[in-house]
Amino acid sequence: MEKNIVVIKGDGIGPEIVTEAVKVMRKVAAVYGHAFRFEEVAAGGCAIDQFGQCLPQESLDKCLAADSVLLGAVGGPKWDGVDKNNRPEKALLRIRSAMGLYANLRPAKIFPQLSSASPLKKEIVDAGIDFVMARELIGGIYFGEHKTVEVGGEEQATDIMAYSTHEIERIARVAFETARKRGKKVVSVEKSNVLDCSRLWKKVVAAVAAQYPDVAYSTMLVDNCAMQIVKNPAQFDVIVTENMFGDILSDEASMITGSIGMIPSSSLGDGTNGMYEPIHGSAPDIAGQNIANPVGTILSGAMMLKYSFDMAAESDAIERAVSQVLDEGYRTTDIFSAGMKLVSCSEMGDLVAARIR
Ligand code: IPM
Ligand code: MG
Repeated sequence: MEKNIVVIKGDGIGPEIVTEAVKVMRKVAAVYGHAFRFEEVAAGGCAIDQFGQCLPQESLDKCLAADSVLLGAVGGPKWDGVDKNNRPEKALLRIRSAMGLYANLRPAKIFPQLSSASPLKKEIVDAGIDFVMARELIGGIYFGEHKTVEVGGEEQATDIMAYSTHEIERIARVAFETARKRGKKVVSVEKSNVLDCSRLWKKVVAAVAAQYPDVAYSTMLVDNCAMQIVKNPAQFDVIVTENMFGDILSDEASMITGSIGMIPSSSLGDGTNGMYEPIHGSAPDIAGQNIANPVGTILSGAMMLKYSFDMAAESDAIERAVSQVLDEGYRTTDIFSAGMKLVSCSEMGDLVAARIR
């Protein structure tokens, strides 16, 4: 198969980790006889530096035309002072929105080789951590009006959270479909004891749940969910939640698996083209040192193969290669422990690529 993949390396450690993921995907293409064409486009802080805009129109057009997009990370303190509408993060939000990528799936799964890296107690980890966060990605407070005005001699800021029925319905459907292929359990997370958006959320998800009698459905308040994720993560299969809650809870969920550096994500809409990115940020503090963990990005490539290109065997080959490298004791700094072999970002990419078969 021939696929056109747009690559956004972005900022901070972005270029380093994406280079390794591309390396692994090229190896997959060679072994399985595919032609992957990678085209790099500028977005984020580096695009501000180069073109004065966080997302040049040409970059967006290429994302929209691509079979899929692979992204590293955008942002960093260097661009803290830029206009809020041109911040590096805006590039990401605009691409998600323009491509209609409303469903962001973020797996929280512990690699058995890394169970000691989890900050949770052994008995909690041993009970199992394997769930997926289905985060609504192009609605809610991220996309409502943001403004700061003068009121009574001081500044006042407002961010509007809005959700319409159809926006909730479509992400709920993705959550239930995902659960059907897994443990058949959906927990809908909201703050319906306070927010109208959450009350509508709860009502709409319940209606969708009624169409999936084979999937167990329950609801949980977001504050309780934050607690349950560290107390008893084994209870979860699929968590469906709105944009900002999902942003926050997915960082928490990733950390209990040992390292945020290991977790990939997929963002999809109604088409097959999506955007795939690790869930971590640009980590400017370690950028350029070749010590970042590229596995989250490499596994994002695996998700692209499975979800956008329908290449399950190729995707599994990447996951197996990662697992083998971990079995052999290779670790980047973030997941290093005594007795293991410390490797750089590029060495990790080489090791995984060499094990693709
Ligand atoms: C994420 C990130 C982004 C988000 C930022 C960079 C805008 O934290 O993908 O989780 O909040 O969605
Ligand atoms: Mg986040």
